[in-house]
Parts: sequence; C-alpha cells; structure tokens
Amino acid sequence: MKFARITLSDRASAGIYEDRSGPAIEEFFAARLAVAVDWERVLIPDDRAGIERTLVRLCDEAGCALVVTTGGTGPSSRDVTPEATIAVIEREMPGFGEIMRVQSFANVPTAILSRGTAGTRGRTLIVNLPGNPRAVGECLPLLLPAIIECLDHLGHPRPVLRA
Ligand code: MTE
Repeated sequence: MKFARITLSDRASAGIYEDRSGPAIEEFFAARLAVAVDWERVLIPDDRAGIERTLVRLCDEAGCALVVTTGGTGPSSRDVTPEATIAVIEREMPGFGEIMRVQSFANVPTAILSRGTAGTRGRTLIVNLPGNPRAVGECLPLLLPAIIECLDHLGHPRPVLRA
C-alpha cells in the first residue's frame, strides 16, 4: 500500500523550522494500521504550480492510494493548497473539510480558518489537513473511517486496523 504525505510550508522547506506535521501524519497511520505502508515524503514551499505538479505525480505516476497534505489551507496570500487540490481532483469530497472544521471548532475556534478539502483523482484520495502538528492529531482520527472506506471504494485493498 503506497501513501504520500506532503508538507506545504515556505519556512519549513527553507529549513527555518523543523517539519513536525509530515512525520505526525506517518506516525498516526503507523499506530492505527496493521498493514505496511510505503511512504512518499515531500516537503515543498507554498507554490501553487509546484503543489499541483507534485499532486499529479503522486497520483498518476507514483500510484499512491492516499495523499495527505498538511499546511497552506488558511487565509494568507501564500496559502494555496486547497486551490491546487481543487485544480487536480476530478471529484471533490467536501465532507472531509466540513467535519474537520465542525468537530475542531468546539475546542479550537480558529479551526474555521482552514479551507482544507479532499477529493479523488483516478484511484487516489487526496486529503488536506491544516499545518499545525496538533491539528494533524486532532483531525486524522475523525477522518480515518472514511479514508478506509474510500480506499475500498477506489479499488484498493482495504487497510486493516490494529486490534
Ligand atoms: N484545526 C485544528 N483542529 N487545530 C488547529 O490548531 N488551526 C487553525 C485551522 N485549523 C487549527 C485548525 C488555524 S489557526 C489556521 S490559520 C488554519 O487551520 C489554517 O492553517 P494552515 O494554513 O497551516 O493550513
């Protein structure tokens, strides 16, 4: 099973601070899934054309079942992850973003600043998470059942959860 994680951050990609969100995505799945995952790991700046090229490569050439992005979903002018995602997906799955915002809002009122979404391109599911490592830990548990079901619907082996 091949998955990818992409961290979108001008500063982390320039080495100004350490990327903790990308590794947090991988650690989450390692703790929950009983299957071995082959990870593609990407850390790139908030550049829309570069994000789109990376997403297309991971879907069409690398054949990833799942691509999880973190960062670039907010309101600042450099936050372009949702735009890049919408440009490359064939079908949007707005429920992923909706549930992250609704469920996170009770504890984190700024959760509604994230414009993250999700969608499918071919047999790949792309999901946007906010950039904060804590947000990764708050959001992924909400999404895991739907991610597993979606991979099944896209024709991938259904990932088995740890007991
Ligand atoms: N969602 C959760 N669960 N936890 C958070 O800490 N941070 C919010 C929001 N969503 C946050 C969250 C904030 S402050 C911002 S600006 C947006 O996500 C966008 O973050 P991003 O641009 O790093 O993707």
